[in-house]
Amino acid sequence: METRISEIAGGIYRLSTYVPEIAPPAGFTFNQFLVLGDEPLLFHTGLRKMFPNNREALSRIISPERLRWIAYGHFEADECGAMNEWLAIAPQATPAHGQTGCMVSLTDFADRAPRPLADGEVIDIGGGKRVRFIDTPHTPHGWDAGVLFEESTQTLMCGDLFTQLGDDKALTDGDVVGPAIAAEDIFKYSSLCPGMGTTIRGLAALAPRTLALMHGPSFAGDGAAALHALADDYDRRVSGQAPPRSLAG
Ligand SMILES: [Fe+2]
Ligand SMILES: [Fe+2]
Repeated sequence: METRISEIAGGIYRLSTYVPEIAPPAGFTFNQFLVLGDEPLLFHTGLRKMFPNNREALSRIISPERLRWIAYGHFEADECGAMNEWLAIAPQATPAHGQTGCMVSLTDFADRAPRPLADGEVIDIGGGKRVRFIDTPHTPHGWDAGVLFEESTQTLMCGDLFTQLGDDKALTDGDVVGPAIAAEDIFKYSSLCPGMGTTIRGLAALAPRTLALMHGPSFAGDGAAALHALADDYDRRVSGQAPPRSLAG
């Protein structure tokens, strides 16, 4: 298993591992994001069993003990399974997550006390980088769900939003909505709830220029338009409408 590194925005690196055995023949990617600054931040720990791969990959960019923040989107093995492995090799690192997630899971799970982040709270990690945590409860799944927005590069680290199959290039300007709709049809991974569309449209107001997908390529382009289109599809699912002809299999 190889973990590849790409800089998808200024000072933001994607560590990507492709697993062909998941949803073959397309396969599936697991991506972590390292945001460089005086206080480097890792978004998603990766699976516990992928820790050696991710540690080796991150070591090609910075020494792992320099990590200061370890954040993630929601409590699940690929998002935070290797939390304690990272904490063990990064003595200055603090886990950071939303207040709900800290209360429900992280305070117990993590070997070091977490920093709870209020909805919209910013951590200034230096080097011009500022990361904002935004609550997105149950979107796409997990009571504790949230995303991270890096303000200087306008990069939205989307977690599982826009999940897609396959191993596209690291950074694309192509369609990320159609493949996400197709993956939802296959995996049914989202907790369909009435507030989803509104939550996702709220993210569009950030006008992201880069969407960093946990499972899929990163997208460079009109992030707000993509988020609006994804929100529309969730509204359709929640209301029980049939897919448009162009999307019907
Ligand atoms: Fe997830
Ligand atoms: Fe995930």
